[in-house]
Amino acid sequence: MSALVKNYNRRKISFKKGKGSFLYASNGKKYLDFVQGIAVNSLGHANPYLIKAINKQAKKLWHVSNAFIIPEGERLAKRLTQKTFADFVMFQNSGTEATEAAMKVARRYFYSIGQPKKNRILCIKNSFHGRTLAAIFASGSKKMTEGFGPKVGGFDHFEFGNLKSLKRSITKNTAAIMIETALGEKGIKVHSNFFLKELRKICNQKKILLILDEVQCGIGRSGKFFAFEYANIKPDIVPIAKGIGGGYPIGAVLMNKKAASGMVPGTHGSTFGGAPISMQVGNAVLDQILKKGFLKNVQNISKYFHSGLKKIQKQYPDIIKEVRGIGLLIGLQLYNNQSKFIQKLMNNNLLTIRAEENVIRILPPLTVKKKEVDLAIKIIKKVCKEYKA
Ligand SMILES: Cc1ncc(COP(=O)(O)O)c(C=O)c1O
Repeated sequence: MSALVKNYNRRKISFKKGKGSFLYASNGKKYLDFVQGIAVNSLGHANPYLIKAINKQAKKLWHVSNAFIIPEGERLAKRLTQKTFADFVMFQNSGTEATEAAMKVARRYFYSIGQPKKNRILCIKNSFHGRTLAAIFASGSKKMTEGFGPKVGGFDHFEFGNLKSLKRSITKNTAAIMIETALGEKGIKVHSNFFLKELRKICNQKKILLILDEVQCGIGRSGKFFAFEYANIKPDIVPIAKGIGGGYPIGAVLMNKKAASGMVPGTHGSTFGGAPISMQVGNAVLDQILKKGFLKNVQNISKYFHSGLKKIQKQYPDIIKEVRGIGLLIGLQLYNNQSKFIQKLMNNNLLTIRAEENVIRILPPLTVKKKEVDLAIKIIKKVCKEYKA
């Protein structure tokens, strides 16, 4: 019997090694891994460049307290600010810590300018920002908060994509609006550029900070470094994690000068956040993702994948309701519960994972090859055929 707490519904399989887009199971089978730790291994498994970077750093220095200057983190922060809207970066270790810290930054800003009552955070009803107490109550999801009372206050909610509902939910005490630029866990739902532009306008008019959670859709997964770039807008605060570590736990909050102004010494901290070893991995991930042509390639392969999936949907319109997503954050929405379909894909050596709304999430590494996409398409088609039969 496993001594692990049963808070996961684990599949009965384990792996002994990985290479690029593939995982090698203990049962001897080879799987095309289009889960990649749920959008974590941006450069695939056992990426040689990352192995070299982590080994080099491991021989020099693993950990130093944030009581001292950490040059590797200074460099990563500088590169992130040079590449993005941000002026400052604060490192964490995970996505939920990053979203939690993002909320602290927003509240602290209004506190620091003498408006402590402007402290409420407006989020999408049934969204996902992680599993800390604040993050689950931010989600506005009954399922995620059940049994975890008393309720953490300070959150309001609006309906996905609904500007009227959004405007109605803003009060004079709204400090920030926090949404995922593209929703992952809750069903791969992409906002229109129009919605995001309006959102920015509303935040400007009402003097509200805009937090765009790019923990899942950021760091190249959308085909741009950040998904909000498609809408040509600039947020104030952006929590990131997953892809920036390429499999090593890193979280961070990126922010502009205004948002950062409330964060003075003592307002936030993390023992492990920003340690030399994680920072060198983050720098190595950036070396690859910022290479000329890398993101263009993500866009091209994503277009190819989406069009292949749309063809399957046309062929099997009674099974696949919708092909969703942006870049390599892809969702196949079925009419019925998707678990059986996911199991059948796995029986055919393709690993995928669920999201809400009967969606199968497909998350290849950003380095995925055309022939691997072809293989996935072939397997999905085969399963559709069997599923129909
Ligand atoms: C959008 C978003 N925010 C926050 C989180 C929480 O990240 P973590 O699991 O690293 O705490 C996730 C994780 O899936 C996520 O998708």
